[in-house]
Amino acid sequence: MSSNILYQVGNTPIVEINLKNEININLYAKLEFFNPTGSVKDRAAAYIIKKILDENIINKDTTLIESSSGNFGVSLSAYSRLYGLKFICVIDKNTTPLNEMLIKTQGAQIIKVTEQDKFGGYLLNRILKIKEILNSTPNIYWINQYENPLNAEAYYETLGNEICNGVLGNIDYIFLGVSSGGTITGVSQKVKERFPKVKVIAVDIFGSVIFGNTPQKRYIPGIGSSMVPNILQRAIIDDVVWVSEIETAKSCKELLKEHNIFAGGSSGSVYAAIKKYFSKKEIREPLNVICIFPDRGERYCTTIYDDCWCNEYLIDKERKTIND
Ligand SMILES: Cc1ncc(COP(=O)(O)O)c(C=O)c1O
Repeated sequence: MSSNILYQVGNTPIVEINLKNEININLYAKLEFFNPTGSVKDRAAAYIIKKILDENIINKDTTLIESSSGNFGVSLSAYSRLYGLKFICVIDKNTTPLNEMLIKTQGAQIIKVTEQDKFGGYLLNRILKIKEILNSTPNIYWINQYENPLNAEAYYETLGNEICNGVLGNIDYIFLGVSSGGTITGVSQKVKERFPKVKVIAVDIFGSVIFGNTPQKRYIPGIGSSMVPNILQRAIIDDVVWVSEIETAKSCKELLKEHNIFAGGSSGSVYAAIKKYFSKKEIREPLNVICIFPDRGERYCTTIYDDCWCNEYLIDKERKTIND
């Protein structure tokens, strides 16, 4: 038993997904949307705030600040409140109204950036805004998920361990979506220690610059980035698979229709990437493949799960790109 729901981070379930066309793949998904505020980011928020308090890096009067397109903002708001800390969340125009409302409801102060940066996203301008606030506010701590080693450490200590202990036998492949790079950095370090032959496959979205692709306007939050995260330098990655936003939306709908999993955008990206990756490979021996599903579908009801939105934003975008 726990004295507070927010202490119930981790120990999320793993389910098997039956890939009909790939009889030699045992696919397992770790459902991170079972975390207290609904996403994998609870792990980083809970771990980092506790650690910096325990080590007196901050005190009870410190204000926390972070840039987030959604899930991390929700998690940090909840865990800041748990510890009685003030939290400023810098969001942008792409943040869905639902996420904005969730962050606000959890008690954060919101600052919204509305001007796009040179890559067509908002991240660089969000960071500029943070630097401005840091310069004018005493006793303030920037969580800085793109650079803070504690972000990766949170996943090394928690999710990485659970994955290593959660699947019977060996792990041959692990697929993870990347945004700040915290999850893949921590998890890759841990699983490679336990299963040195495991192949870690990063999943990114076209339009994200993380692995050197051309910047392009993106609409689905949670995966990809318009800057290369420093934290990723310590990740141990064997391969990268890029998927489009349309493939992401289609795969989310397939997960729901065929496997009853109502998952968020990056889960669809990861599922699309797995199918793409193995469709080109001949698999002679059965493989154990594990993937992470970071959040639930509700947060994408007015985007990915809305056919009108998909037509307007994703299909039109693909047509324009093909015509260009
Ligand atoms: C839905 C979703 N998927 C994947 C990720 C990627 O995690 P990370 O930032 O650790 O790379 C995030 C991060 O915000 C997310 O919100």
